[in-house]
Amino acid sequence: MSRKPLIAGNWKLNHLTGPAVETAAALKGMVAGVTGTEIVICPVFTVLDAVGTAIAGSNIALGGQNCYTKESGAFTGEISPQMLADVGCTWVIIGHSERRQYFGETDALLNEKAKFARASGLKVMFCIGETLEERNGGQMNAVLERQVSKGLEGLSDADFDGLAIAYEPVWAIGTGVVASPEQAQEAHAFVRGLVKKQFSAAIADAVRIQYGGSVKPDNAKELMGKPDVDGFLVGGAALKADSFAAIVKNAL
Ligand code: PGA
Repeated sequence: MSRKPLIAGNWKLNHLTGPAVETAAALKGMVAGVTGTEIVICPVFTVLDAVGTAIAGSNIALGGQNCYTKESGAFTGEISPQMLADVGCTWVIIGHSERRQYFGETDALLNEKAKFARASGLKVMFCIGETLEERNGGQMNAVLERQVSKGLEGLSDADFDGLAIAYEPVWAIGTGVVASPEQAQEAHAFVRGLVKKQFSAAIADAVRIQYGGSVKPDNAKELMGKPDVDGFLVGGAALKADSFAAIVKNAL
């Protein structure tokens, strides 16, 4: 099965309207000829509208960085998948390690979020990954197994039509310490095996598993060369149009 590469930029808590629009508009020009890769950018909520306008008619899709489990109501400070879709998003990131770590998001909550986002028509990048302590303590496989089994519990075959898994080892995020291509491949193959066990061989074969954690233009090609690496979720290097475009192009 050949899986179309999925490369997404997670802008995190960065970029006011000016730089956001500038970055998006520059990126639009730089990746205009790219056809074989699905490209997504995930800015902060407040600039989604402006960035959506800047990339209108391009090959770049828009995504949110988080969403809640309800469509509307008395949930101060939250945002719903319907609202993200309303402003032009087709994707949402769920379960980023920063959400798990700083905002206490549990496997059970993330499972609800993933299911509700899919039921609401958004495509989901579902993030998993172990910390350095967990890896050094020999718990990596157990952690990934828990995150996959609980986080994706109850998802249907149709849900998987719009779901990618992002393997992001926490020790590689924002640290400049990228997983080696071999480490990434080992984890991705393990995660694909988990999906096969929990769902089916067909779903495991089709689901895209992105790598995230200190992806840069100069390590993108080697990582993408691994059979189970199907794209990236890029943080720091996605904040500038030229480095994100170089990652997209180097991964081809
Ligand atoms: P990084 O972040 O590329 O800056 O390491 C990746 C992520 O958190 O998605």
